[in-house]
Parts: sequence; C-alpha cells; structure tokens
Amino acid sequence: MTIKTINGFSKLSKQEKINWLSKTYLSGNTQASNLLSLYWHEDSERQKRHDEFIENALSNFFLPFAVAPNFKIDGRIFAIPMVIEESSVVAAASNAAKFWLERGGFKTEIVSTIKSGQIHLNYPGEAQSLIKFFETHKKQLISSVDELSQSMVKRGGGLIDLTLANESESLSDYYYIDARFNTADAMGANYINSCLETIAENFRILASDFDGFGPNEQPEVVMSILSNFVPECLVRVTVSCPVSELAQEGLSGKEFAHKFVRAVDIAQTNPLRAVTHNKGIMNGVDAVVLATGNDFRAVEAGVHAYACRDGHYKSLSKAKVNQDHFEFSIELPLALGTVGGLTKLHPMVGVAMSILQEPSAEELMKIVATAGLAQNFAAVRSLVTTGIQKGHMKMHLLNLLSQYNADESTKIAAVEHFKSNSISARSVAEFVASHQKNDH
Ligand code: MEV
Repeated sequence: MTIKTINGFSKLSKQEKINWLSKTYLSGNTQASNLLSLYWHEDSERQKRHDEFIENALSNFFLPFAVAPNFKIDGRIFAIPMVIEESSVVAAASNAAKFWLERGGFKTEIVSTIKSGQIHLNYPGEAQSLIKFFETHKKQLISSVDELSQSMVKRGGGLIDLTLANESESLSDYYYIDARFNTADAMGANYINSCLETIAENFRILASDFDGFGPNEQPEVVMSILSNFVPECLVRVTVSCPVSELAQEGLSGKEFAHKFVRAVDIAQTNPLRAVTHNKGIMNGVDAVVLATGNDFRAVEAGVHAYACRDGHYKSLSKAKVNQDHFEFSIELPLALGTVGGLTKLHPMVGVAMSILQEPSAEELMKIVATAGLAQNFAAVRSLVTTGIQKGHMKMHLLNLLSQYNADESTKIAAVEHFKSNSISARSVAEFVASHQKNDH
C-alpha cells in the first residue's frame, strides 16, 4: 500500500490525529489507537499541560519514577529521584549509597560553572582587520546584552566575556566569537542563545559601518548557538576509605581494591571498555537528569565529548590506592538548571525537586554526579566479583515473567523458585509454561 502524505497534520485535534494514524498506519487496529487514548490523564487540564510540552502530542509515555535512598553527600542525607526503564539500576544505586554511607559518604566540589556559546563567522579578509574591528567594538558588543541580562545579573549570572578565535587554518575564512556565561540556577540555553543572537545582530550592524574591511570582505554571521560542550561547568565527586574496609564476596580488601582499580584503569585505556563503563555512569546521571526535568541529550553530548577531550575516549572515573587508602572519583561536565525549562512545568519534576530539598543548580550538579559515581561503583563492583548477570537477572525476573504473561500465583512461585535456580529467558519461559499448565 502506498501511503499518502498529509498536509496540516498539526492543525488536527488529538483524536483526529489518532484517527488518521489508525487509518493510515495501523490498518484500523483499534487496540493500538485505543491505547493512545487510554494513556491520557483523566484530568484534562493536567493532560493539556503535558500536551503543550511538544508538538503533535498524542498521548503520554510512562517511565517509572523511583528513589534511591541513603545517599550521604557532603554530610547531608538524600533520597535521589530516578526516572529510568532499566531494571537493577535503582537497586545498584541504593546499594552503593548504603555501602558508602557507612564509609563517610560522597564528598563533592564544584570546579567551575561557566558555559559558552559561539557566533560562527565567515570572513575572507585580513585577520588583522577583523581583530581590530573586534577589539574596537568589543565593549559595545558586550553591553548590547545589558537589557537582556538584567534578571540574570540580579541572580548572579550574566555574560562574562567575548573573545575572537581565528580558525582559518583549520577551515578557510572561519573565525568565531566565543562568549562565556554564568547562568546561575538556570541551565541557560534560552538566555545564552538570545544573547548570542543579539550580539550577532549588533556585530552585523557595526561591521557594515566599519571602513577597515576591504571590498567584498564583510564578515558574515553563519550561525549563533550555545555549546553543549561544557568542560568549564564541572563537578567532582569522591569516595574513599581504608582498603581494609573493602573486603567482600570472598575477596580481601586488598584483592578487591586491586581488581577494582585495574578495571577502572582498563576503562581509562581501552575505548571498547570505556564506552560501556561510562554508559553505566550515565545510567545514574540520566535517570536523575530526567527526573529533574533537565535536558539529558545536552548532558549526554557534553559528557561524552568530555570523555574524549584529549583525543582519546576514556573513563570518566578514576580509582587509585594510596598508602592503603582507596579513592574513587569522577569529574563530570553538567549544565543543569533548577529554574526555567521544564523544571517548573512538569508536576513530577516539582516532586523530584521537593524530595531533593529544592537544590540550587550547583547542588543538583553534585547530586547528579554522585548518582553517576554510585552507579559506576556498583557496576564495577559486580563486574569484578560476582559478574553482572546474577544481580541483573534477579532484578529483571519480574519483567521476564510479565513478558511470558505469568499470572500472579506463577509470579510468586517463580520468585521463590529462582532464589536458588539460575535465571535466563528460557528457564523463566519454561517455568511459566509448566507452572500455568499444572495450575489449570
Ligand atoms: C548496564 O546498563 C551497565 C553496565 O554495563 C556498566 C558497566 O559495564 O560498567 C553494567
């Protein structure tokens, strides 16, 4: 069947959109289209709020909202909200929190909180002329955002500086203006982009009046946009304890520390391992970023760029033993906000922020990085002791049982049975089939 395109889809009502989808793509499959409306919130005002987040919204897509309690961060005890679909992540975070609770907890430090954006230029003339123009008008360009920055400045943020970079050796005629910002408790994407566009417009006007550029050598603004690479918006989190306190799973503290440090060193060296190692970190990071209504794509992009900032993709965490003391730490670039964006719009984000005691952006950076380090600790600890599957499959059992349509009594029997039997998709399928057959 050839499918016809549609004009004006966005103008249709929600039900009309679903009807069109059902007719066009779902062969009238009412089960699928009914599910879309089944997942609407019964309170239409609440539903409207969610619909307005994005365009062409048809329904809601649920992800579980959980908390991992007992996190001691700089002496304060937190329950960390996590939104994630993967079983065993929250359990792992909670276990790591408990483990470090008894060993002094997580210690954090904000390294810096600067974000940047760039105005990308095309300029075919002499570098010296552009430099002269920029230096002459820099103050004016900076003050062009004064009005826009008023409330940001009141909150302690604002535009810090502008510099001109010459990249014409890497790409012909390419220069950019680098703008550095502090955005206080906002993630700041809208503020930064508005500032950049204002500066770019002023740049264009001033440049057209500048008589130092040769004929056909006017600098052209190609685009203005913030950077999601935020190596100067950095938080550090550390856990440490005497090696003797690490004994577990039949390993002495020394043996465990040796294997653990080795595993992290491998992730520092081998990108094949580093990507998975960092994925484990992002299990914790993304879950808190999502729960707190922040932009997880921006965080992901920035974190992975940071992981290969010296041209070699490597582990975001480090581990060492120094004079019988084990130390495990992480440094993460995190552009987060606790005001603006979705933070005040999504009711569940409000709940998450309340659970976290209304953190500032810096406090949220510390909490998110702690979740990442905890997750990484739990994953590497499993990897170097029992292996990852034992715990993971235990947590995944309920999903497998649902997948094989197990009824409640089968689920209860299965949980008991698999306490002492190994879990695999096949063994669970067989158990469900035989249990439900015997039951009927
Ligand atoms: C699974 O979601 C994450 C891990 O693969 C992380 C790791 O290997 O370190 C367990």
